[in-house]
Amino acid sequence: MRAHEAGWAHAEGALKGPAWLREPVDPNALVPHLWSSTAHRDDDGALRVGGMALADVVADHNTPAYVLDEADFRARARAFRDAFDDYEVFYAGKAFLCTEVARWVAEEGLSLDVCSEGELRVALAAGFDPARIGFHGNNKTTMELRHAVAVGVGRIIVDSFHEIDRLAEIAADTGRSARVMVRVTAGVEAHTHEYIATAHEDQKFGFSITAGDALEAVRRVLAADGLELLGLHSHIGSQIFDTSGFEVAARRVLALQARISDELGVTLPEMDLGGGFGIAYTTQDDPADPAQLATEMSKIVEHECRALGIPEPALSIEPGRAIVGPAMCTVYTVGTVKEVELDGGQRRTYVSVDGGMSDNIRTALYDADYSCAVASRTSAAAPTLARVVGKHCEAGDIVVKDEFVPGDVAPGDLLAVPGTGAYCRSMASNYNHALRPPVVAVRDGVARVVVRRETYDDLLATDVGVTDE
Ligand code: LLP
Repeated sequence: MRAHEAGWAHAEGALKGPAWLREPVDPNALVPHLWSSTAHRDDDGALRVGGMALADVVADHNTPAYVLDEADFRARARAFRDAFDDYEVFYAGKAFLCTEVARWVAEEGLSLDVCSEGELRVALAAGFDPARIGFHGNNKTTMELRHAVAVGVGRIIVDSFHEIDRLAEIAADTGRSARVMVRVTAGVEAHTHEYIATAHEDQKFGFSITAGDALEAVRRVLAADGLELLGLHSHIGSQIFDTSGFEVAARRVLALQARISDELGVTLPEMDLGGGFGIAYTTQDDPADPAQLATEMSKIVEHECRALGIPEPALSIEPGRAIVGPAMCTVYTVGTVKEVELDGGQRRTYVSVDGGMSDNIRTALYDADYSCAVASRTSAAAPTLARVVGKHCEAGDIVVKDEFVPGDVAPGDLLAVPGTGAYCRSMASNYNHALRPPVVAVRDGVARVVVRRETYDDLLATDVGVTDE
């Protein structure tokens, strides 16, 4: 759903907030499943994560800052690893990647999905085993493909006939073979924002099963010397709660697998069902846990393979958001609080923070919902409905559309937004020449900067017009 054309204030029910948003009895209370597992308030009311008061993290590292709960990240990675123990679990680095996180991923026994030369370089800089890397993308450049083949990336997920040709040429040129999966479009309408749904027909990813392109892609890969076909790959979208989408996709992909076996006499050893498992951003979200997902997905595959009379392929999945999303929060400082009178005399409270759409574009781009809490103190004031906005030069620069905060929220308060681990730092920009915030990892009372804050020198470093005068 997109924003109301005439602006937020015109959307139905806007001033009361959305129907799902309940006024809390105590606006200081944290809703546990929105926060990383070590988050809590101490006896003084200060919000602590990883054994550190967020106010202390801020005293050393300033705001805005992303705070990454290492124990929580590792626990979520491990939970996927353990629940999907028959699967290869690829952490999707596009959600958030830095060398430190790549090392955690390796230590927790997961593989890694990258989708660009940049992500590949970060993984390699971390010493990540290339054989455990999957390389995605609908338009990988020749340079990217060459590099992936040269370092021995474990699998390249091909997404176009041009790419198959290109990769076959590179394999022939270099005398190195490439292990390949074919990305297919299962024709599923995933229940998520249209920009992050990827298995319906009218979008750029994959080879269509129904149009016959997927089978043709398989034929061409099989015919190419130097390409080894591992199997089919399907990713239906992101922030999905309903497993029926995965069920339909698995059924269609396995039906194709059976056809390949019948018509081409080839048994594909593997199948990847992608990522996309949803997380809770607000109280309206109720995600399944990895164990539940694993049980359901394995059951579907087992059942379908039995019905089709084909052997079960080795399975893999690619969760990103569900591992890193809840592990991070963003801490901001409140700069201004403004009451705005709207048509009909109702008033909206705008709380401005020192970041915004440059560190979290998701609200503006996907109409995403977030929650927040004052991190530096508790308050006895009654809750008030607020809109948390950034400091950028546009009205759509909204971080949290609607949340109840203590009525005495004031400049200088620290405000923390949970669930910002996925697709916030990784989609951050320098809009308005903002400096991208640091990522501070916290664990057992120790805070470590794993990605530093950008500086104005960083900003000017690419501006070749700078003179010394
Ligand atoms: N595998 C493939 C092939 C993908 O394209 C993606 C995400 C994933 C795995 C991981 O999906 P996850 O488990 O993180 O949902 N920027 C958007 C999300 C874009 C997802 C892109 N692909 C957002 O902020 O919601």
